[in-house]
This record gives sequence, C-alpha cells and structure tokens, in this order.
Amino acid sequence: MKLFLDTASIDEIRQINRWGVLGGVTTNPSLVAKEHADPEQVWKVILEEVDGPISLETTELEADAMYEQGVGLAQMAPNAVVKVPMTPDGLTAGTRLVKDGIRINVTLVFSPAQAILAAEIGAYIVSPFLGRVDDVASDGMDLLRRICRIYEVQGYETNVLAASLRHPMHVVESALAGADIATMPYAVFAQLVKHPLTDVGLDKFLQDWKALHEELEEGA
Ligand code: E4P
Repeated sequence: MKLFLDTASIDEIRQINRWGVLGGVTTNPSLVAKEHADPEQVWKVILEEVDGPISLETTELEADAMYEQGVGLAQMAPNAVVKVPMTPDGLTAGTRLVKDGIRINVTLVFSPAQAILAAEIGAYIVSPFLGRVDDVASDGMDLLRRICRIYEVQGYETNVLAASLRHPMHVVESALAGADIATMPYAVFAQLVKHPLTDVGLDKFLQDWKALHEELEEGA
C-alpha cells in the first residue's frame, strides 16, 4: 500500500518526503485554501517536489467546464492526477478525460455503488472517505472492505485510495483491507513512526553506551 499525504502544505510535504516513504499527495480545495496563496503556484511547487501522483481537484460543476479545467490541470505536469467529484457531471467529464489519456481520481465516494461507477469509467483512483462515514455514525472501514472486495471479484484495475483517515489504526486497517493507497494528514503520518517503547529502548541503549565509555575512560 502506497502512503500519500493529504495536504497542500509544502513544509509538511518536505518533512515527510525526507523519510523516503512518500508515494504521492492528495489536495482538495479546502486544503489549498488553507495555504492562502495562488493555487497554481501551490500545485506547481508540490508537483515538482514529489516524484509520484499528485491529485489536483476541479472546482467547476458543469461537465464541459469541468473537462476543460481538468485538461488544464493535467497539463501542469506529467504526475498531475485530475480529481473529479462523484456526480453525474463528474462522471461525464471524467469519461472524457480518461478517453484523452488523463489519469483521474474520483473523489467524495461514500458507497460501493459509487465506487463501481468510478471503476466503470476507467478512473485511475477512487477515493472513499472513511473518516467522514464514521462521522455520521456509520462504518467507514466496512465501506472500504466492500469496495476492495468488489474490485477484486470484478477485476477492476482502478486503485482504491483510503481517504479521510484520522488515526494510525485507519492506516493499518486500510492495509489489511487491501487498499492500494492510503492518504492521510501530516499529524497521522507523524503518529505512524511513534511508539513509546522505541523512545524508552533508545534512551536505554544510549545510556549503556555512555556508561561503557565512561568505564573505559576510567580504566585508561
Ligand atoms: C482526499 O483526497 C481528501 O482530500 C481527504 O482525505 C478528505 O479528508 P477529510 O475528511 O479529513 O477532510
């Protein structure tokens, strides 16, 4: 399972990119708005920084306008992936973009039926939003499992991207469910590396190492 950052912050991207595990980035209009900068500039820097698929979201609602906007986004860089919403117009625009050879990410997916539609139009990525399903007292992980199962049974090649992840167990359970990609905010990425026993163990190793050297110096 590839690990993506769900952010438009170049600082966050640079920090995680140093670890060597960053497979790509997802952005959405709300994340870009948080940067208080020209969206084109924000996307341009991210596209250059990360060697992997970067999802850039359309904001037009009508199919023709969304298609034109999508073509423009795809032209920004070879690693650009165009996000379209799971709406009738999104499907129409997405179908045209796929026919043009443009990789699309169908976003705002909340049901297995929607995920089937995304696969049928040949989407590169489908994005079920797990955390937002949990927020309305339903089971986001069950949604992901069902989509992964349907894709396996049907032989769909669309990549399942577990989105709207809120904590490390979402990431672990997404991997177990068979997701191809998990996208998460910086805070969740940072939590993945943390374990109190790692910190305790490292402290002890370093204390023992220091004690050995003090002992050797005393004996010299
Ligand atoms: C995915 O591409 C979306 O940007 C994202 O995961 C939404 O997550 P949220 O529910 O935390 O806003």
